[in-house]
Amino acid sequence: MVKIPTIKQNDNTVMPIIGLGTYTSTGGDCKRAVKDAIDAGYRHFDTAYFYENEAEVGEAIREKIAEGAIKREDVYIVTKLWCHFHDPERVEKACRLSLKNFGLDYIDMYLMHWPYAYVYEGDRVMFPTDPSGEVKLSDVDYVDTWKAMEKLVGLGLTKSIGVSNFNSKQLTRLLSAATIKPVHNQIEAHPGLSQKKLIEFCKNLNIVVTGYCPLGRPEGNRGDFLNDKKIIEIGKKYNKSSAQVILRWLVDSGVVPIPKSVTKSRIQANIDIFDFQLSAEDRQVLDGFNTGHRIIPMTHAKNSPHYPFHEEF
Ligand SMILES: NC(=O)c1ccc[n+]([C@@H]2O[C@H](COP(=O)([O-])OP(=O)(O)OC[C@H]3O[C@@H](n4cnc5c(N)ncnc54)[C@H](OP(=O)(O)O)[C@@H]3O)[C@@H](O)[C@H]2O)c1
Repeated sequence: MVKIPTIKQNDNTVMPIIGLGTYTSTGGDCKRAVKDAIDAGYRHFDTAYFYENEAEVGEAIREKIAEGAIKREDVYIVTKLWCHFHDPERVEKACRLSLKNFGLDYIDMYLMHWPYAYVYEGDRVMFPTDPSGEVKLSDVDYVDTWKAMEKLVGLGLTKSIGVSNFNSKQLTRLLSAATIKPVHNQIEAHPGLSQKKLIEFCKNLNIVVTGYCPLGRPEGNRGDFLNDKKIIEIGKKYNKSSAQVILRWLVDSGVVPIPKSVTKSRIQANIDIFDFQLSAEDRQVLDGFNTGHRIIPMTHAKNSPHYPFHEEF
């Protein structure tokens, strides 16, 4: 079993520096993946209310606790507040809904999934749309949502709170109003979008960066880093796959990657990255893939005053 290193965060909590992503993992596949991951050594799991799989993630973890394989405090569970729950009046209810889905009594990290908000039309209406098919944006300010999230820590519903998809200006504005500083900013990060400036910015504020789509979401040919000849050649030097090279490069860049897989062999391989070190030269080759291209631009929200991707970083 791989022993995964941890990082201490600005609120003194500790998280494993690689986790299992679960977006699009559903039903039995999701549950099996989480259990396989626990057996392999994963202790950090990333999900979201939006993924509609909190119940499967929770069930897998609860069964592993019941088997005696882990204790609740051994695992680090991240979930996220979806955009239709941003109204401060809805935040605590949304968090309790996630806890009910998990069948657990606390979350380790509750993230605001996006800085922009949608109109609420029901707990399960993730994308409320008008008759022309446009998503109905709401003007709730993320600072007000954050203030409601701060209360969740005092209530013991989550150990830590953080954000996702925030740009540097939004983080600065949030910090000026926050009583509890965000612990985390979860952002898209892979060779095509290396995010050096935002990572440096967060590092200076002692905010940990988690990287999503770390492998460039290879299905559907959206990112072909796994089949890139240069990355494969680097891997041969260390007897590692291109996926392992990319994940190691992210860790070395100060990012906590959360690769998603439901395939046991890949789940195991993706954390087998702590027995080699990339040379500075090889890291530079990986740095050279950056084009700034986003896999998840969420352009439907570009007219929100809180859309994060109009800024350079
Ligand atoms: N905060 C946000 O807004 C946000 C947005 C997107 C994602 N996320 C989080 O980040 C996680 C990761 O991102 P992602 O799922 O979009 O993309 P990803 O992890 O870059 O890619 C996942 C894909 O890669 C495949 N894969 C995994 N390991 C592999 C390997 N070693 N070799 C070849 N293929 C491999 C998986 O296939 P199999 O499953 O078939 O093995 C899956 O199709 C998500 O699951 C989610 O938890 C957060």
